[in-house]
Amino acid sequence: GKSGYNHYMLKEINEQPRALRQCLRGRVNELLRIVQVDEVINLETPNAVQFVACGTSYHAALYGAQFFRECGVMAQTFLASEYTAATVPMGEGTLVIGVTQSGETADTMRALREASAAGATTLAMTNVVGSSAARECDHAMYIRAGPEISVAATKTFGSQQVAAVLLATALIGVADQSLLAALRGLPDHVQTVLDSSRARDVAEAYLDADSYFFIGRGYNMPVALEAALKTKEITYKHAEGFAAGELKHGPLALVTEDTPVFALLTAGVNFEKTLSNVREVEARGGPVIAVTDSPKEVKGYADHVLEVPETHSTVAPIVANVQLQLVSYWIANRLGRPIDKPRNLAKSVTVE
Ligand code: F6R
Repeated sequence: GKSGYNHYMLKEINEQPRALRQCLRGRVNELLRIVQVDEVINLETPNAVQFVACGTSYHAALYGAQFFRECGVMAQTFLASEYTAATVPMGEGTLVIGVTQSGETADTMRALREASAAGATTLAMTNVVGSSAARECDHAMYIRAGPEISVAATKTFGSQQVAAVLLATALIGVADQSLLAALRGLPDHVQTVLDSSRARDVAEAYLDADSYFFIGRGYNMPVALEAALKTKEITYKHAEGFAAGELKHGPLALVTEDTPVFALLTAGVNFEKTLSNVREVEARGGPVIAVTDSPKEVKGYADHVLEVPETHSTVAPIVANVQLQLVSYWIANRLGRPIDKPRNLAKSVTVE
């Protein structure tokens, strides 16, 4: 059941600390500074990685590929529906990772089968033990988020992001101590957001908007895309996510005082540049909602602040995303949408 929540989506958003703990359990050894993923113990370090996925899982894959690249491994991300092994250079030792919550998505299955036929080693990163992806791939790594009932994916997104970081670290053997400590702290940081979020008030303030924008750079870019997808699915309103730097290359023309812009402003190398993109929005009269761990630095630029605890810059976007899940939930709730079963959508998409 929904354990007292009005919707599975809200229940699952609130289950994230537990889901993340389960994903991490037994896999991180901070003392030895290593990550061990039992499922891939026999997998060699890949020369290159190709992620294939759809929807929310694609956004998690974008994040994961970025982390692999930071670890020094060539990594790309493909929409499964656009992937053709024939047109992608695939050398010796290429690992193709299908990120799929259900393990049943037809587009992702086709891409994995094609990659396998082309000689790649395949790995399913999935939530469902015994799913088609888990059975058909050479390897399967489980994200252990527990069952997700709501059509809109929430808790599985963060777990996929963490699983990708764990997988890369396990395969490469590089473990940054501060990153491992941040992963350990992640469930508590998400809990802090759940306990203190002002997302409901922010949703209330922008209920009338026809369109919502989300911007972020680096690891926050996939989170911006994910927040827009969630908003579209459950509020039925127009929403778009952009790499913050792209705003001035076109979409800024759409920004008026009626376009709330949610800016992911977590500390790190991308903070200052994202803040200057925020100034461009402010100059056009666009309302700015900052999701940030640095409230003092954004003062004067943001109309609303959604605060997140300070943590490692790679992990912070996972926490920031929770604030935006809540914003989309409360907008949809106030608009009376059928949140758990949005029109035209299915939890598992088994046609191409
Ligand atoms: C969005 C959503 C979909 C799925 C996509 C892939 O909230 O749920 O975009 O992420 O259909 O599904 P899986 O991960 O099961 O392959």
